[in-house]
Amino acid sequence: MKESFYITTPIYYVNDVPHIGHAYTTVAADVMARYKRLAGYNVFFLTGSDEHGQKVEKAALENGKTPIQLADKVVKRFIGLWKKLNISHDDFIRTSQERHKKTAQALFNIVREKGDIYLGEYEDWYCTPCETFLTEKQLVDNRCPDCKREVELLKEESYFFRMSAYGDRLLKHIEENPDFIQPVSRRNEIISFVKDGLRDLSISRTTFKWGIPVPDNDEHVIYVWFDALTNYLTAVGGFSDEEKFSTFWPADIHLIGKDILRFHAVYWPTFLMAAGLPLPKQVFAHGWWTVEGEKMSKSLGNVVDPYQVIDEYGVDQFRYFLMREVTFGLDGDYSKSALIGRINSDLGNDLGNLLNRSLTMTEKYANGIVPSGGQPIQEDMELVEMAEKAVNEFNESMNKLSFNRALDHLWELIRETNRYIDHRAPWKLSKEGNAERLKCVVYTFIESLRQISIMLYPFMPATAEKMWDQLGIKEQKEALTLSSLEKWGGLKSGTVVNKGAILFPRVETEKEAPTHHTEPKEEKSKKTKDSDPAGGISFDDFMKVELHVGVIKEAEKVPKSDKLLKLKVDIGRERRQIVAGIGKSYEPETLIGKQVAVVTNLKPAQLMGIESQGMVLAAGEDELKLVTFEGDMKAGTRIR
Ligand code: MSP
Repeated sequence: MKESFYITTPIYYVNDVPHIGHAYTTVAADVMARYKRLAGYNVFFLTGSDEHGQKVEKAALENGKTPIQLADKVVKRFIGLWKKLNISHDDFIRTSQERHKKTAQALFNIVREKGDIYLGEYEDWYCTPCETFLTEKQLVDNRCPDCKREVELLKEESYFFRMSAYGDRLLKHIEENPDFIQPVSRRNEIISFVKDGLRDLSISRTTFKWGIPVPDNDEHVIYVWFDALTNYLTAVGGFSDEEKFSTFWPADIHLIGKDILRFHAVYWPTFLMAAGLPLPKQVFAHGWWTVEGEKMSKSLGNVVDPYQVIDEYGVDQFRYFLMREVTFGLDGDYSKSALIGRINSDLGNDLGNLLNRSLTMTEKYANGIVPSGGQPIQEDMELVEMAEKAVNEFNESMNKLSFNRALDHLWELIRETNRYIDHRAPWKLSKEGNAERLKCVVYTFIESLRQISIMLYPFMPATAEKMWDQLGIKEQKEALTLSSLEKWGGLKSGTVVNKGAILFPRVETEKEAPTHHTEPKEEKSKKTKDSDPAGGISFDDFMKVELHVGVIKEAEKVPKSDKLLKLKVDIGRERRQIVAGIGKSYEPETLIGKQVAVVTNLKPAQLMGIESQGMVLAAGEDELKLVTFEGDMKAGTRIR
């Protein structure tokens, strides 16, 4: 029987519409769920909505709605977003559902029967927006330490949970299970919180009605966190479906944001201990996003709407950015320029370009049919070994939820495969008529792409599926599993590839608009004036032009132009895209590896809509010859 894997997101409040923070937790959980399914697990992935409580009751009132009407409306926004984001949850739980009411009441009863819930009187500070009780000590200037808003002093009859009795047991559990709370910095925070001593917790309210009634005393509703946390049991049949429950409980991972760690790593485990249920295996708290360096807030008007980002940049682009940009567990910053940078460089230049050129070459040199691998030699084996290493490191990182590290390893393989193509130069092998080597090289880079596409799948499922289509392996189910990466060569020879549309079109930025072709007139006349009237320029003037040795890494024709070629040129510190008018004199393939002279400090220009970030020097009128060097020169060497 398949091993099970149960992962949850927090259930989201329905008094707010979804933003990037909600999208983040859910995408991360989806990545993990997809990864585990790929690894053959029986996965249960849960998300949902947290609908009860005073906050929702208030928000509904302000909107002229009943709480359930408000919840119904907002839940649609969440479900719609998950669909748009390709979230593969197995269930969506709403705390207003009957199935959940039963579980929450059952848990309450069990703990009460055990003697760990008692009726008392409650007097404490309460922060309504945060749904949090605070001690006098926790207040900062008599305000909530988190949201800085005013707090209320509440005095009411309340049921209490005897949390104070569980501090030692919880501490022991945390210490004996180093993975229980992750990352480590967060774990230490919780340890010191528990060591300070746990107070009994008020777990019912009489001051509002929108909640689950306490069994046998409907003057009280169950406190929203006791209600909400129980959702994790409801969805897997807690107290109702023994078989499902024993299959999936305890949960493998509760994925949450750092702000709600205490509820998950202190309250929740103590409730479970009281009920005699096993504790979740891990609570993982990720960091928070700021936006362009600022805290995200409605009052600043900088809340990032995931719907909008997806419409503008694409769903997989957004998913990739969220997972790649920051170390999972730490805080991160969202900015448009960082997102565009990732799309253009990682996705466009590295991945998109690799797929595109690989398929073009498979079509050109192998009639679009994956050849047999033939006899790999040392230089092929280097890539094979690199792929093996990447797969191992990828898996290791994924199992630690180090998503950005996993992607780093994957991108090392992508870049290495690009380099492999540069160095093995299939166009040369073709020219030399070296059919055996050519077959082997084509097989090697296509198999590498298959492996890449599988590792990419959890992060960018729609892209991976397009890649499978283009690689012709969509129907080869056995070639699409994680275990197929354990051995090189899962791609069948004879597979017919099917080159499709470019996956990641470049995102043009505002900065790219001005060019030296549209330079303002005043600037031109000023330059003329500054130049030497005797007809020469000074040495200093000449030195203003930065010239460097560049090595051409990629070259392709610019569509609809017989003169222009689009080059990728390594200039030492970076790779530049340069559009050069040498198409009538050179075939693109013959240029790879050539050392050329590049003007590197020209303002970028747009040529037929393509950005050119420099100029390659050549001599001649019709028949052009590139300026090259007598000996071997390193990319980036200054020319003077
Ligand atoms: N309803 C509770 C959770 C109950 S779970 C039994 C709740 N809901 S929430 O809608 O306010 O937030 C849910 C998640 O969104 C949390 O994991 C929180 O960390 C995350 N985020 C909210 N803003 C965020 C950022 N700016 N950045 C990253 N995540 C953030 O809490």
